[in-house]
Amino acid sequence: MNKMREVYSVSDSRAIGVFDSGLGGLTVVKELCRFLPNEDIVYFGDTGRVPYGTRSRETIRKYALQDENFLINKNVKLIIAACGTVSSVASDTASLLPVPFFEVVSHAARSAVKATKNGKIGVIGTAATVKSGEHERQIKALLPSAEVTAVGCSLFVPLVEEGWYSEDDVVVFETVKRYLKPIKENGCDTLILGCTHYPVLEKVIKKVLGDEVSLINAGTSTSQTVKEYLCENDMLNSKTDIGIHSFYVSDKADSFRAQASILLGEEIDETKVSQVDLGNL
Ligand code: DGL
Repeated sequence: MNKMREVYSVSDSRAIGVFDSGLGGLTVVKELCRFLPNEDIVYFGDTGRVPYGTRSRETIRKYALQDENFLINKNVKLIIAACGTVSSVASDTASLLPVPFFEVVSHAARSAVKATKNGKIGVIGTAATVKSGEHERQIKALLPSAEVTAVGCSLFVPLVEEGWYSEDDVVVFETVKRYLKPIKENGCDTLILGCTHYPVLEKVIKKVLGDEVSLINAGTSTSQTVKEYLCENDMLNSKTDIGIHSFYVSDKADSFRAQASILLGEEIDETKVSQVDLGNL
């Protein structure tokens, strides 16, 4: 990691922009902080309009464009769609952007194909993500013999947004177990967490499926790719201090702050979170 910083010059102090329909994209921010601790990050969570996963393609595209424009106005150097739903059905909005764009589906597909031994890959995501078939298409392009079992897990996002993700919670455990039944029955040895909220449920998912099933968190490989991109294009931030993280949400800042502090494992005080109205931008 440090080697790359020595080899490449560093030259872009603008922040990295990350957006999601709500809290879930913080699982990607957590990984970004691991790989790129000195980068500033501007996060937008559309908490006033979550979930995206139950909406039409047109609505998801419209929201994605508004989220991206918000970040462009914050002068970010690149944008990460830390939302499986947007990545699955609205990645084409990236062609309109003046900065590089990264989504989370292709990285997850690549990691899953690398991880599987029996070629049976599970995908869990929102209804819109599963309906799009994007993970399956990308997996099959890399491994045509793969058997993909995709399951929409509509109740996972509300559980996470509500702060219910303890593996000891019987409601959480039984809900996860019921949704993952086809994954278990079909003998998947690898499971893509195709929604950025789902890594929060990782412990429960492991408890249900057992340690032998590899769980793919797209935030990890996406963050790795972003790091490589910044290095190769001389776009790393040259500062040596820990990056500044600013958070914007479209609903109450307080509830976001409390959950985000737990998910990120860092204290997020009120100066770091602002409520914005995308309609007024
Ligand atoms: N974070 C979104 C995703 O990754 C899921 C939540 C939603 O439905 O908006 O798909």
